[in-house]
Amino acid sequence: MKHIDVKEIITSKEYVEKTVTVCGWVRTSRNSKFVAFVEVNDGTSLKNVQVVVDKGGCPDYKEPRVGTSLKVTGKVVEGRNNTCEICTEPRNIEIFGDAPTDYPLQKKGHTLEFLRTIPHLRGRTNTFNAVMRVRSVLAAAIHEYFQSNNYVYVNTPLITGSDCEGAGEMFQVTTIGYNNEYKDAESYYADDFFGKKAGLSVSGQLEGEMAATAMGKIYTFGPSFRAENSNTPKHLAEFWHIEPEVAFAELDDVIEIAESMVKYVIGKLLEKCPDEIAFFDAHFEKGLKARLEELISHEFGRVTYTEAIELLKKSGEDFVYPVEWGCDLQTEHERYLSEKVFKKAVFVTDYPKEIKSFYMKQNADGKTVAAVDLLVPGVGEIIGGSEREADYDKLVAAMKERDMNLDLYADYLDLRKYGTVPHGGFGLGFERLIMYTTGMANIRDVILFPRTVGSIR
Ligand code: 4AD
Repeated sequence: MKHIDVKEIITSKEYVEKTVTVCGWVRTSRNSKFVAFVEVNDGTSLKNVQVVVDKGGCPDYKEPRVGTSLKVTGKVVEGRNNTCEICTEPRNIEIFGDAPTDYPLQKKGHTLEFLRTIPHLRGRTNTFNAVMRVRSVLAAAIHEYFQSNNYVYVNTPLITGSDCEGAGEMFQVTTIGYNNEYKDAESYYADDFFGKKAGLSVSGQLEGEMAATAMGKIYTFGPSFRAENSNTPKHLAEFWHIEPEVAFAELDDVIEIAESMVKYVIGKLLEKCPDEIAFFDAHFEKGLKARLEELISHEFGRVTYTEAIELLKKSGEDFVYPVEWGCDLQTEHERYLSEKVFKKAVFVTDYPKEIKSFYMKQNADGKTVAAVDLLVPGVGEIIGGSEREADYDKLVAAMKERDMNLDLYADYLDLRKYGTVPHGGFGLGFERLIMYTTGMANIRDVILFPRTVGSIR
C-alpha cells in the first residue's frame, strides 16, 4: 500500500504542496461546522500529523472515533509551529476499521499499571512507542559497537543441559510430566526428549567461552531465562542478554570493554533519539538528558567489594538487609553506592568467592574472585562479569566445592586442557539498560510482553 510515514511528513518540507497518502490510527478528532481536525499517528513518530478536513461538500461527514484506523489522501501545507499538516475532503478518507467507544485508550494519561493490563494495545501510546524506539536504537548500537571492534556475533543455544550460574534458577524443558511410574529421577530424565535433564539457558556464557577461545572476540545477544521467584521491578523470567566474551583478557580489560560499550551505545542513543529522550526527561525523569550526557563524558567509578562494604557500614544508613563482609549486595546497597557515594556509574570488583559463580578466576588472597558488577543510579546492577578461571585444577576444585556434576561440564573443562588462555566477559541485561536510559522504574514497562513470576499472557 503506497503511503508516506507520518514522521516524514512532519519533519521534512519535501512534501509541501504535494498530494500524499498517510495511514494510521486516530489519536484525537474535533468537529466544527465547516472543518474537522483529525490527529493521525502511524507509530513512526511521537508527534501526530494533523488532517484538516474541509467538510464543505459533505454535510453528513461522520467524525472518525479515537482508535479508528484509516487512510487519508490530501495536500501537505505548512501549518502553525512550523509543522506540516494535510488538507483533505471527506471523500479522500478511507476507514479500515472503526474503534468502538470501549477502546481503552480514549484519553491521555493512563497509569503505567493500567497499561500493563493491555499489553497488546499499549504500544499505541507515546510512552511505549518511545520505549520501543529506544530499545531498537540501543540494540542496533550494541551490534554496531561489537561489529566495528572485530567481534563475531554468535547464537548460543537456548535449550541447555548445563546450568551456567549454578543457582537452581533454570526452567525445566520436558515433553513428559514426571509420574510415579519412574523409579527415580534418572530413569525419568532418560525417558525424556533429550535423554537427560534439560532446561532453558540462564546465560550463553559457557558456550560463549568456547566460541571466544576459537574466534578471539565474540558476543551474544539473545534471551536468557531465570526461574527465580523475584517479584521485583527489575526481574524478568525472560530477559534479553548481551554477553561479550574475549580471549587474552584480564579483569581490567573486561572493565574497559564494558565502560566503552556502555558509553558508545548511550552516545548513539542521545544522537539518534533526541525526541524520545526529551519525552522521558519531561514525563518520567527530570534531568535525564543531562545525566546521560554526564555519564558518557566522565570515567566510571571503581571500588573493590571490600571497600564498598566499608563505605556501606560507615554510611549510617538504616538498610533493610544488614551489611557484613561476605553478604550479597542488595539493590538498596547498590543504589546507595552509585547514587550517594559515587553519584555515577561504578564498577564493584573482587567479590567473596562464596557469593559468586564457580567459573570466576580465583584471586591470590584465596577469599575473593576477579568478578565485576556495574552499578548505576536508579537501577542498581546492570552488568555482571568476570575474568574466568583458566586453570584446570583450580576450576575443578571450585566445582567440587559446589558439588557440581563434572560430567555435565566436560566440554567446558576441555577448554582448560587444550590451549587454555586468560579470558573474560560480562553479561548486560538489556532491559536494565533501557530502564536506566529512559528513567522507567519498572522492567515490565520496557519490554513488549513481560514474563514475570505468576504472570504470562
Ligand atoms: O549477573 P548475571 O547473572 O551474570 C551472568 O549471567 C553471567 N553469565 C554473565 C557473563 O559473565 N557472561 O547476569 C548478567 C546481567 C545482570 O547484571 C542483569 O543486568 C541481567 O543480566 N539480569 C537480569 N535482567 C532481568 N531480569 C533478570 N531476572 C535478570 N537476571 C540477570
